[in-house]
Amino acid sequence: MSPLTVTRTLPADATTAALRADVAHGLTRTPKQLPPKWFYDARGSELFDEITTLPDYYPTRAEREILISRSADIATATGARTLVELGSGSSDKTRHLIAALTGLHTYVPVDVSETALTAAGEALLTLHPDLTVHALVADFQQGFALPGTPGPRLLAFLGGTIGNLLPEERAAFLRSVRDLLAPGDALLLGTDLVKPEPTLIAAYDDARGVTADFNKNVLNVINRELGADFDPADFHHVALWNAEREWIEMRLRARKELTVKIPALDLAVPFAEGEEIRTEISAKFRQEGVREELGVAGFELSRWWTDEAGRFALSLAVRA
Ligand code: SAH
Ligand code: TRP
Repeated sequence: MSPLTVTRTLPADATTAALRADVAHGLTRTPKQLPPKWFYDARGSELFDEITTLPDYYPTRAEREILISRSADIATATGARTLVELGSGSSDKTRHLIAALTGLHTYVPVDVSETALTAAGEALLTLHPDLTVHALVADFQQGFALPGTPGPRLLAFLGGTIGNLLPEERAAFLRSVRDLLAPGDALLLGTDLVKPEPTLIAAYDDARGVTADFNKNVLNVINRELGADFDPADFHHVALWNAEREWIEMRLRARKELTVKIPALDLAVPFAEGEEIRTEISAKFRQEGVREELGVAGFELSRWWTDEAGRFALSLAVRA
């Protein structure tokens, strides 16, 4: 069996430094905000995996349906020898793609969650003992280099995670992805689609409250890493549809007036009753918009597939 290589692109303490900076900035501005990557400690990754199994959370099932029916087409169209995946998490759906890519030599999963990367890499090597798995612990919004692996490359960004970036961030991100690839390499992009509001709200405010726990997990991360005294029970999980921007907004709303102490930052953060922290957006897309954003970044959309119900899309694009 090939060994699993895990490379950290950042020194271990860089994570804490980045968290300190994000919390110091995000909780002293108005409105308060926190970047979504801090959801994903070991517990957060576990909660996200639980979200993907909820009846209300349709994107994972819809994307899996497309991968099952289209992976053979993707393999033929790309002939990929290296598969890079950003925000790979459990790599669970990716198994369909890996099984179809017959010439695949190396898989490079990239994620901020080292626990998720290790578990996913080990599970994959059991299924594909000859595959080389080179996992990268990295922030896909910061510059990072790919290991020198054989082309052609296919870079996958699944789960609708691109929708968690703001439009300006998406543009910068897609450009940086373009710069990681050689002409003729391909991008496989998963995007959730615009649909009626009740379906969207249910997906981000599920009946069992798992999404609420996931959203509040960022407070546990700040308590643990920075010694803060957030009581997650003091906050209410809120999911709103912004019809103009066509994105879901997730927030944490203070149930009462309170002050949180963050010793590592020597900071006391006051909250008014009802005051919110913006924790995440999840943008929903239309085909014309995806084509346009890809084009601006130097990609040409070559295939567009949706699930039967038209809820979710996978785009295959070629780096021009
Ligand atoms: N691709 C999987 C997981 C999606 S959840 C799926 O489709 O089910 C989003 C994943 O992206 C998580 O595993 C999270 O740890 C990772 N992630 C979020 N922000 C990141 C960032 N800035 N850099 C690298 N990984 C990130
Ligand atoms: N990429 C996922 C999405 O936008 C992330 C996600 C799902 C999420 N549920 C969430 C983020 C709840 C925050 C809160 O669908």
